[in-house]
Amino acid sequence: MSEEKSAVFIIFGASGDLAHRKLYPALFRLYKSGYLKDHFAVIGTARRPWTDDYFRETIEESLNNEIKNINSNDISEFVKHFFYMSHDVNDAAHYIALKELAASLDDQFETNSNRVYYMAIAPRFFGTVAEHINSEGLKTEGFNRLVIEKPFGRDYASAEELNNDISQAFTEEEIYRIDHYLGKKMVQEIANIREKNTTFEKILNNKYVSNIQVTLAESLGVEERGGYYETSGVLRDMVQNHIMQIIGSLAVDHPEIKKDSEVHELKNELFASLKILTPETVDDNFIRGQYDTDEKGQMKAYRQEDNVDPNSNIDTYAAGKMEFAIDRWENVPFYVRSGKRLVDKSSRIDIVFNDKVTEFGIDANTVVTLYIEPSEGSNIQVNGKDYLEGDQNLIKFPEQADYFDNAREAYESLIIDILSGNKVNFTFWNELQSTWKYIDVIRQKWDSEEPDFPNYLSMTRGPALSDLLLAQDNNKWVW
Ligand code: BG6
Repeated sequence: MSEEKSAVFIIFGASGDLAHRKLYPALFRLYKSGYLKDHFAVIGTARRPWTDDYFRETIEESLNNEIKNINSNDISEFVKHFFYMSHDVNDAAHYIALKELAASLDDQFETNSNRVYYMAIAPRFFGTVAEHINSEGLKTEGFNRLVIEKPFGRDYASAEELNNDISQAFTEEEIYRIDHYLGKKMVQEIANIREKNTTFEKILNNKYVSNIQVTLAESLGVEERGGYYETSGVLRDMVQNHIMQIIGSLAVDHPEIKKDSEVHELKNELFASLKILTPETVDDNFIRGQYDTDEKGQMKAYRQEDNVDPNSNIDTYAAGKMEFAIDRWENVPFYVRSGKRLVDKSSRIDIVFNDKVTEFGIDANTVVTLYIEPSEGSNIQVNGKDYLEGDQNLIKFPEQADYFDNAREAYESLIIDILSGNKVNFTFWNELQSTWKYIDVIRQKWDSEEPDFPNYLSMTRGPALSDLLLAQDNNKWVW
């Protein structure tokens, strides 16, 4: 049985999409598995004047939508732990009311005064809420953990400002910055795969690796998030965070190290070694794109999406080459790409080895692919063959066939980490400093020039420019 945890969760943005699609289903699954049982309560806050009953109904609805074969008695018991408070983030009196409600729920559910403050609101409110939590004395003698959703800033300067704001109220130790890719099973397993497969680990360096490719391809467009996306673009939305963190999991030294502070030391070292581009070198190393309609002219081009400027120059596709000035990876290109409206949803890492691997009895130019998603295919392949059929000398994993079927959803696993105080799967400020500095140069260069958009058809593999990027190094995308 799972070890039961206790806390009062205060969710800012409780009426929002993220809370309904991700958080409530994740909390419910944790309730079913026993991590949450009797000693937890959730206070939802948002501006709307909802009652507890109405709030509970909205939760029931989202659970019914998100979880198959759900038992209605379980839902009724679960929602008894939920309470609602209408909240204006700028009004100090509202924080006092929140504090009183949290204290009474503490008594009722015996939660040891533990608090999880979850920011599922618009980023512009993060700082204000954190400051009020502090100034109105919401913090308790139990644990006080602040969970922050992305985006953490929109460039280095705004990220630093935000960090300064929240640091007035919470220590780095208490801050949990979410990157939901770090909650995904395969991303979490990378260190174990490396640790268990000694040959693989031995050849995972610049002597044997020709290049590494990280692809986060999505088939959906921006859907109803045009307004947000116009302020972001794929570079900020996927590259600065998810792609960087995947590389972090794959490329750091010492996969055997599990302690959160030490893992982050290593990641910090890696990201600090990123070779920052200059305005002159951006174009040789990064290309951008924006989706048009599809071949048949039936789908909306990005510029036709709701809440999108009809002349928008926002990127929905980016591909680039990153390099790290660290011994293990000196001269190994990390090709990365992400885009919307591509032919498939596919999150994967392709590691392309050179011909020196024959020293280990492995075929020259072997490719090891780690599939992050879609989850049905979470798997490892060697030269396109599943690990069971492929070169087992090189890589063996996972042991059980149903390993990934039973994997927790990213949010479920991240919430367990938050309740357990394990920060391995969250991003630290010093890492973000390096990744934002890297991205800023590209962003500034792109913002200073008019691109020729749209430049790729929906449901394709993105702009042709992306192939040229690798061709200039005599390389090719595996996918
Ligand atoms: C989010 C981005 O962080 O990740 C979205 O804001 C994107 O634009 C999503 O669609 C992709 O996540 P996943 O888990 O579906 O691959």
